[in-house]
Amino acid sequence: MGMNGSPFIKACRGTNDGRIPIWIMRQAGRYLPEYRAVREKVSFEQLCKSPSLIAEVVRQPVQRFDLDAAILFSDILTIMDPMGVPVSFPEGGPVLANPVNGPDDVAKLKPYDPALELTFVFDGISEIRKVLPASPIIGFAGSPFTLACYLIQGKGSSNFDKPKQFLHKYPAASETLFNFLVDIVSRYLEEQIKAGADTVQLFDSWGGILSQDDYRHWSARPVQEIFRRLKRYNVPRILFVNNVAPYLDIVADIDCEVIGVDYRCDIARAAAALPHKAVQGNLDPAVLFGSKESIVRQTGSILDSLSTHDNFIFNLGHGIQPGTPVESVYTLVETVHGFQRSTA
Ligand code: CP3
Repeated sequence: MGMNGSPFIKACRGTNDGRIPIWIMRQAGRYLPEYRAVREKVSFEQLCKSPSLIAEVVRQPVQRFDLDAAILFSDILTIMDPMGVPVSFPEGGPVLANPVNGPDDVAKLKPYDPALELTFVFDGISEIRKVLPASPIIGFAGSPFTLACYLIQGKGSSNFDKPKQFLHKYPAASETLFNFLVDIVSRYLEEQIKAGADTVQLFDSWGGILSQDDYRHWSARPVQEIFRRLKRYNVPRILFVNNVAPYLDIVADIDCEVIGVDYRCDIARAAAALPHKAVQGNLDPAVLFGSKESIVRQTGSILDSLSTHDNFIFNLGHGIQPGTPVESVYTLVETVHGFQRSTA
C-alpha cells in the first residue's frame, strides 16, 4: 500500500503530523462546470457504468482544488439493479422500479456476486488509480439501514415513515432483508478494496431518524458486522452518520477508525466522545453560499475548536450542493491547508 504516508490515511489512523487533509462529500458533481459538461453527453446511469468517465469526473475536483483524497464516483443505489430492483435517476431524485412492500418482496430479492455483476465499479477504481497515482481512493457503500430506506420507500423521502413502520410490522422479514444487505455490502466493499480502494466509507444517511434501540439494532449492528468482515484488509473504515449527535456513545463502540460527523453536531463534542477514533467533518454546506470572510471564519472556528489535529479530516457536514460557487471551494481548501497547527 503506497498511500500510508498521505496526510489523509495518517489522519484516519490518528498519526497525521502534516497538513490537515480535506475532501468533500459529493466532490464530483453538478456544482462543477466540467462535471456538467460530461453530463451533457451521458446520463447519470451511463456515467456510473463507464470506467473511463468515472475516472475523469473523479479526477476533476481532486486536481482542481488539490484535495487530499479521491472518492469513487458511483451511487449507493448502484447495488440494487442486480438484486432485481432497477433504479432510475430522473430530475428530483432516485426512483426504484420494484420497491419492497412486504415479506414476499424480500424473498424475491436476488442474491448475487458483486465481483461478477458490478465489474464497471472495480474497473473504475483501476482507472482512477491510473489518472491519480498519488491520491488515496475512498470506496463506499450505503449502510444497510439507508439502503433499506430506499428499497422500502421506493424513492427519496423527508421522513422515511414507511421503512420505519416496516421494521416493526415485519421484524422477521426485516432480519432476512438486513442479513441479505450485510452480505452484499460486505462483498461489494471487499471487491472495491481488492481493486485498489485505500479506505472505505459507509453512508448512513438516514440512521439519524431512528430511536436509540432501533439505531442500535438496525443501523449500528449491521454496520458493525460489515466492518468486522473488512477488518482483515487493514484499510481505514469510515462511518458517516447524518445526525450522529444522539448516538455518539453507540458509534464510539463500533470497531472502525473514523466517524464522519454531520453539520448539526459540535465537532469538538464529537471528538471528545470518540477518544479512540479519528473524526471527519463538518462545515455546513450552506456556509459555502456565504461571503469569503464568513467561510474563512467558520472554517477556522471548526479548526480552532479541536484540541488535536492528528486525527482530524476536514469535510463538509453533508454533500456539497448544486449551485455552490466554485470560488468558495478554493477559499475553503486554502483555509484548511493554510492552517497553522500548534506544536504543543
Ligand atoms: O461524493 C462523490 O463525489 C461520489 C459520488 C456519490 C454520488 N452519490 C453521486 C450522485 C456518492 C458518494 C453518493 C452517495 C449517495 N447517493 C447517498 C449518501 C450520501 C448522502 O447524500 O447522504 C445517497 C443518499 C444517495 C442517493 C441519491 N443519489 C440521491 C438522493 C440522489 C439525488 C439527489 C441529487 O443530488 O440529485 C442521487 C443522484 C446522484 N448521486 C447524483 C450524483 C452526482 C446527481 C446525479 C446527476 O448528475 O444528475
